[in-house]
Amino acid sequence: MENQTSSSLSSDVNQPVSVGILGATGMVGQRFIQLLENHPWFRITWIAASDRSSGKPYAEAAKWRLDTPCPQRIASMVLSPAEPDHAPRVIFAALDTEIAREMEPKFAAAGCAVVSNSSAFRMAPGVPLVIPEVNADHLHLIEGQSWRHSSGGYIVTNPNCSAIGLVLALKPIEERFGIEQIFVSTMQAVSGAGYPGVASMDILGNVVPYIKNEEQKMEEETLKLLGRLSGNSIQPLDARMSAHCNRVAVEDGHTESVSIKLRRKATREELLAVWAEFQPLAGQHLPMAPAQPVEWLEAEDRPQPRLDRNRGGGMAASVGRLRPCGLLDWKFTVLSHNTIRGAAGAAILNGELLHRLGKLETEPAAVAAR
Ligand SMILES: NC(=O)c1ccc[n+]([C@@H]2O[C@H](COP(=O)([O-])OP(=O)(O)OC[C@H]3O[C@@H](n4cnc5c(N)ncnc54)[C@H](OP(=O)(O)O)[C@@H]3O)[C@@H](O)[C@H]2O)c1
Repeated sequence: MENQTSSSLSSDVNQPVSVGILGATGMVGQRFIQLLENHPWFRITWIAASDRSSGKPYAEAAKWRLDTPCPQRIASMVLSPAEPDHAPRVIFAALDTEIAREMEPKFAAAGCAVVSNSSAFRMAPGVPLVIPEVNADHLHLIEGQSWRHSSGGYIVTNPNCSAIGLVLALKPIEERFGIEQIFVSTMQAVSGAGYPGVASMDILGNVVPYIKNEEQKMEEETLKLLGRLSGNSIQPLDARMSAHCNRVAVEDGHTESVSIKLRRKATREELLAVWAEFQPLAGQHLPMAPAQPVEWLEAEDRPQPRLDRNRGGGMAASVGRLRPCGLLDWKFTVLSHNTIRGAAGAAILNGELLHRLGKLETEPAAVAAR
């Protein structure tokens, strides 16, 4: 990590915090660049990817795939080696899982706040898996991480793109009525597999009823996210869950058909009311946070990915089609943007919450005193 004292990283929101992006050339890395271009608190000062890209200007190394132009300042920025030596303290990471497993701890050990998208450490007992509207209190786990004690660094993760919309929709229901069983079947966009992802010949006019490790991730992450912080660990939600994950020929936006069994009976009006009232970050003024994290759509044929994925700047989960379920109690459809709410946007929102809490700038007292 570059020699940056805690005082040079002011919590004054008028002085942007320097951030780096690991995996800057990939699908999620590009979203980071797009979403951070005009961010009021964060400024990208460092980008890195694999050895194939290191030393090249970004525009040469990355095939820009988004529908807004690559910011000129980033296009000419040269990719650094993926080493912590000259990296800023705050790192947004969008690395393949196996690479992340090896690399993220190196950055945390060097004193970086690693805000990660990858699944490598999501289920590690001491690593918080966080959606700010759902379980901000789980960030307490950072304080138990060995890196935090030795260098001030730590790792925080956001969930899999298929879990995040589901959990946003379930959280207010779980709080008010309790959830006993969850059944979900997904229709997941191709961008969820990174670039180039699934071969066009495999997905055009087709559905692939298999996404490696996705069902397990979705089930375990959902229960951890809805779990309770108990001392220095998380007690997962005591509920049974079954997920079916499918890849469909949609560019962006994961749609999910959900059935739930509740611990206490709820009417349709009560469920609609808990979604409408769910505004847990109101008053915190986090730039990426949507005003309404769960948006109810009344029309009987919504939500749809092409029409609804960008609600709340791509950060809202859209719900619709709430009706009684013949097997469990209620069923509905939820949609969320997989590379915004499900990836880069989720990590930036985690970064914003960490900034609000003063955890991007400050090192624990023991480290600062050295
Ligand atoms: N796509 C989604 O919707 C989504 C949603 C949630 C989470 N995620 C997770 O986010 C992570 C990134 O996903 P993605 O879709 O952006 O993947 P991607 O498009 O394949 O991008 C992978 C990135 O990792 C870099 N990389 C590869 N090997 C490296 C190495 N040895 N050292 C340093 N950097 C290396 C690549 O750089 P080069 O260009 O130089 O090869 C590229 O920047 C994954 O863990 C994924 O599971 C993705």
